[in-house]
Amino acid sequence: MRPTYKIIFGYILISSVLVKAFEPITTTIVAGAGAAAAAAAGRKIYNYFYESCDSKWIDFNSTGLEVDLNRKLFGQHIVSRVVLKAITGFMKNKNPKKPLVLSLHGGTGTGKNFVSQLIAKNLYKKGTDSGFFHQFVATAHFPHQSQIENYKSQLQHWIKGNITNCPQSMFIFDEMDKMQPGLIDSIKPYLDYYEKLDGVSYRQAIFIFLSNSGGENIVEVALDFWKAGKDREEIELKDLEMALSLSVFNNKNSGFWHTSLIDKNLVDFFVPFLPLEYKHLVQCGMAEMAAQGLKPNHTLVDQVVRDMTYFPKSEKIFSVKGCKTISSKLDFYREHA
Ligand SMILES: Nc1ncnc2c1ncn2[C@@H]1O[C@H](COP(=O)(O)OP(=O)(O)OP(=O)(O)O)[C@@H](O)[C@H]1O
Ligand SMILES: *[C@@H]1O[C@H](CO)[C@@H](O)[C@H](O)[C@H]1NC(C)=O
Ligand SMILES: *[C@@H]1O[C@H](CO)[C@@H](O)[C@H](O)[C@H]1NC(C)=O
Ligand SMILES: *[C@@H]1O[C@H](CO)[C@@H](O)[C@H](O)[C@H]1NC(C)=O
Ligand SMILES: [Mg+2]
Repeated sequence: MRPTYKIIFGYILISSVLVKAFEPITTTIVAGAGAAAAAAAGRKIYNYFYESCDSKWIDFNSTGLEVDLNRKLFGQHIVSRVVLKAITGFMKNKNPKKPLVLSLHGGTGTGKNFVSQLIAKNLYKKGTDSGFFHQFVATAHFPHQSQIENYKSQLQHWIKGNITNCPQSMFIFDEMDKMQPGLIDSIKPYLDYYEKLDGVSYRQAIFIFLSNSGGENIVEVALDFWKAGKDREEIELKDLEMALSLSVFNNKNSGFWHTSLIDKNLVDFFVPFLPLEYKHLVQCGMAEMAAQGLKPNHTLVDQVVRDMTYFPKSEKIFSVKGCKTISSKLDFYREHA
């Protein structure tokens, strides 16, 4: 990373000039969000000029997704199955009646963003750098309650604009539980069974909502299985569905659940992420070292993973932060070994 500082810095300058020229609205967000976001925006602008909305750049690889979900995603057997089925089924359908809408639920660091990255990677040649991949983070993009009317029209404008550019666009809405309810209402029409809205068809798009809501209920089910001495892999989707729908409906804070998204069956799949255990954290740590181009060191990873915090207090089975923070902790332990 270090030797490339200069290059990255130059790149940011260029990209923010480009951003200014093309997207006055996003300039402030880019300026505020720092170097990583600026670089990402720069790549998107760059892609805008040469990435095209055709099979050269958008070519779903179902084997690739299956392999990634099985090898790179740890401890989430239900997620792997549901996501593969949902995405593959949708992609095979030449004439979908509505866009695909997935809602991913679970505690922190269990892999929700990671899974959306794996989907993008196997759909777009440019993966998450694709100009057709869009991520909205409630607290970063729509922070002020007073601005809601602006956000609403901006969001509708963006979605419509991007889908007009490319019907096979993907939209991630992160931190859904922190999003103001009215905001998600404004995109509801796009998720529905319309042939066309104002001449635009939204039926080939993918919308993915990420949230922590329902996480506690998922944990309860996982804990019950553990206490009954049952294997984690015996947990089935139906064991979690009830818990999930109850908590999701009843959670006052999880914005969009109040709306008719659920009533109107606009969500095609609810995807529950299980809390991760020690052995999954070890897998994450080993994978992280390999990804950094280091020789995976089990002794080191074990050290890091044992120092993480687990719950419930007495049994200490599940990681409080999932696999989050493992990569930064690895760096720290390595430097202070
Ligand atoms: N189940 C998993 N398998 C493999 N890696 C994982 C898994 N869960 C998390 N990770 C690793 O930890 C990192 C953080 O996870 P991620 O950002 O996907 O969590 P999240 O579920 O979105 O959490 P939050 O609710 O806090 O946003 C990922 O980039 C990935 O490297
Ligand atoms: C699809 O993914 C598989 C497994 O990762 C890979 O071997 C194959 O080359 C990919 N196919 C295409 C067309 O990219
Ligand atoms: C597409 O969405 C991005 C946000 O991800 C936005 O900045 C851009 O203006 C949108 N494009 C169009 C053509 O509306
Ligand atoms: C692995 O990590 C341990 C603990 O930090 C360290 O003592 C050991 O030298 C490392 N082994 C290798 C092969 O790097
Ligand atoms: Mg996340």
